[in-house]
Amino acid sequence: MRLSWKNKLIVALDVSDPRKALDIVDRLGDQAAVFKVGFELFVTAGPGIVEEIQKRGKRVFLDLKFHDIPNTVTRAAIAASRLGVYMFNVHTSGGLGMMKQCRDAVVELCIRENIQRPKIIGVTALTSLDSDILKNELDIHYSLKTHVKHLASLAFAAGLDGVVASPQEIGMIKRECGNDFLVVTPGIRPSWVPPDDQKRTATPRQALRDGADYIVMGRGILKQEEPEKALELISLEMLTA
Ligand code: C5P
Repeated sequence: MRLSWKNKLIVALDVSDPRKALDIVDRLGDQAAVFKVGFELFVTAGPGIVEEIQKRGKRVFLDLKFHDIPNTVTRAAIAASRLGVYMFNVHTSGGLGMMKQCRDAVVELCIRENIQRPKIIGVTALTSLDSDILKNELDIHYSLKTHVKHLASLAFAAGLDGVVASPQEIGMIKRECGNDFLVVTPGIRPSWVPPDDQKRTATPRQALRDGADYIVMGRGILKQEEPEKALELISLEMLTA
């Protein structure tokens, strides 16, 4: 399925105040269709914030990166599915069994309860990790790229819908797991926005040209003086990708 640019852009609601989050959703109006709710907002506002966003006709990517024993992750995944989220994620380093059990339980639940099945996305290596941390702290002696490739293949084997990865890894993952395997990329910055703490960035146009299925943007929109204007410029860039 080919998604329109609007459905490919995920706006990260990285704020703690639910009123502020809903204000952003309302301000962006028809310009944005998918919003990411992460730890900060979810811990402060609870599942009600997801329902409020969905009531406005928007999709929610629940970015809680579940990482626990298979039974616990599966139960959390079932709760997320019943909440009606469009997408949620689990850590691939939880292992093949954990991902598979979670995926199978969600598929079964959604058929049984007639729920639209959420997309299940695997987190590979966090973009804050580098080869030094991998080697010296985690005792993993592969390159970061090889490690990401391995974890993406594991997510693919478990039947997940895709992975979160940096813009630089899109091509490698698509070659390894096929074009239909979704890649969700954060670290996106239009050329007129500074990289902040993101190390491996790409512009929206570049990420889409490289094959990203979804791009996640927070500060590139929310920290701009006029978020609506910023989004308008970004949409033009996405349209011409
Ligand atoms: O503000 P910025 O566009 O950098 O925000 C990126 C969003 O994507 C943040 O919510 C961040 O937590 C999330 N993210 C990331 N890198 C990952 C996974 C998620 O930046 N590997």
